Amino acid sequence: MVSKKTEKQEYRLPGNLKMARPEWIAVDAYFGGLLAPPDAHLDAALKANRAAGLPAIDVSPLQGKFLQVLVRMLRPKRVLEIGTLGGYSTIWMARALPRGGRIVSLEFLQKHADVARKNLENAGLLKRVDLRVGRALDSLPKLAASGAGPFDLIFIDADKPNNPQYLKWALKLARVGTVIVVDNVVRDGKVADAKSADPDVRGTRRMTSLMAREPQLCATVVQNVGVKGYDGFAIAVVE
Ligand code: SAH
Ligand code: DHB
Ligand code: MG
Repeated sequence: MVSKKTEKQEYRLPGNLKMARPEWIAVDAYFGGLLAPPDAHLDAALKANRAAGLPAIDVSPLQGKFLQVLVRMLRPKRVLEIGTLGGYSTIWMARALPRGGRIVSLEFLQKHADVARKNLENAGLLKRVDLRVGRALDSLPKLAASGAGPFDLIFIDADKPNNPQYLKWALKLARVGTVIVVDNVVRDGKVADAKSADPDVRGTRRMTSLMAREPQLCATVVQNVGVKGYDGFAIAVVE
């Protein structure tokens, strides 16, 4: 674990994330201080996640705000999140939902889901979130069969080797206009290595090929740097 101290918060990066450069952290602290300032429920959720020993791979504050801006732009009635962890990204999105809007969030680990449920409850948001525990690839067909879609915004942020399957399910659960965001597509630039044997890289590269080949998708990638190091989002809209 690498530990980085900023003005407001300590960020522990998992060993597989390289260190964030000091200026990336300073710029995140600057913009984050103005646009994603300290907030009792969000800060409490991060604290609870670390206290419970969850990995520090929540989206950063400014990335959470990015998701929230998307929710404000799209006014989604239904959001699907794949990969809940402690519900930090869920809180950012759930807060901005329009009246009647709901998030279905899928999480494999019971322990993570339990922490997320408490965080959402403390934030007064549990009634807007439907947490489903189990492998996403088991939950997704059930969701589809129950007629839960179509979703207006889909955030894919779970195990990266399954990203191709998650994209396929996202398309099945989408409508024209649905926005799909995939986290962690750059991973320190490792994604550019066509020969990589890393299952995360291979999953992300196969997912990106699918995006590129899918005539129904208009997609791009935004590389980003910040407290979580060097990474990026893929963002696509269904046409
Ligand atoms: N979106 C969260 C971070 C998610 S971290 C945030 O930004 O706050 C990735 C999560 O995906 C972890 O909690 C992990 O347990 C979960 N996960 C891993 N494999 C999964 C699977 N097969 N199905 C569902 N969730 C999975
Ligand atoms: C990892 C997963 C994430 O979703 C993330 O944002 C950063 C790191 C990981 O599995 O290492
Ligand atoms: Mg992520």
